[in-house]
Amino acid sequence: MFREYRLFLVLVLGLLAQSFAQAADPPSVTPGQGTNSATTAAPTNGNAGGTASGSGTVAPSVTIPSSAPAGGVSVTQPPQTADASYYKIAQGVDVTFGWNFTSVIQYPNSLTVQAYCSENGNTYPVGPSTGLPGRATQVVWSPYNYSMSALQNNNLPQLIQAKYRLMIFDERGPNVGASPGLVAPNAQVTFALYNPQAYTPLASGWICGSCNGASSLKAIHPIALGLLASLVVMLASGWGLLARAPVAL
Ligand SMILES: *[C@@H]1O[C@H](CO)[C@@H](O)[C@H](O)[C@H]1NC(C)=O
Ligand SMILES: *[C@@H]1O[C@H](CO)[C@@H](O)[C@H](O)[C@H]1NC(C)=O
Repeated sequence: MFREYRLFLVLVLGLLAQSFAQAADPPSVTPGQGTNSATTAAPTNGNAGGTASGSGTVAPSVTIPSSAPAGGVSVTQPPQTADASYYKIAQGVDVTFGWNFTSVIQYPNSLTVQAYCSENGNTYPVGPSTGLPGRATQVVWSPYNYSMSALQNNNLPQLIQAKYRLMIFDERGPNVGASPGLVAPNAQVTFALYNPQAYTPLASGWICGSCNGASSLKAIHPIALGLLASLVVMLASGWGLLARAPVAL
């Protein structure tokens, strides 16, 4: 009888101790590290022309000190400090946008990348329409694939030859301000898209009129084109011809 009572007491004490141990053990989270228990599935590829890479985790809830600096992304490809890059809308030509996280304490659940064209007011999805994992650091976009799907889907605006602003933001949308430790929207990078022509003679000097600040193409000065034309004439007809008819210049 006494033995059974003692056994019962031990059991009760054991149960009590166990529940105490559980209660006294709050979940601890290291900021910015996360619990890598869940990884997001690889992004599907059957959408408007893009693939994403980067690992995703379910964002843990962390306490962010209000003194923490604002988080964000810094675009490294193309460098956000450089002049606008030009990309051809052509089959097999992929555009890679890459970025690094800065001062991020709590990673977002997802990232969205878009291209905004002020000329027609349209916003275009860049990469998977399902969004990217919250820790993605790059997206590979095929403007050609997108334009092909836009041909088949009237709800998708068609790409035009113009300048675009790259926008990267998390699930809180493109209009939130900077917050300590969270990814602030980034709209620092502009780029331009152009349609290739079947054959573009250099002398025709195509210039994207709507692409202001386009240093690379503006760099082809009309005088340079004139000189090139003269050189071709000289080579074709020889110095003698040219010397005899200086008016030809
Ligand atoms: C574009 O489409 C082709 C053909 O469907 C596909 O192989 C390629 O991976 C796509 N590119 C991107 C960046 O999604
Ligand atoms: C940004 O990321 C790239 C690769 O993802 C790395 O090589 C580079 O050092 C990083 N730059 C900074 C400033 O963290």
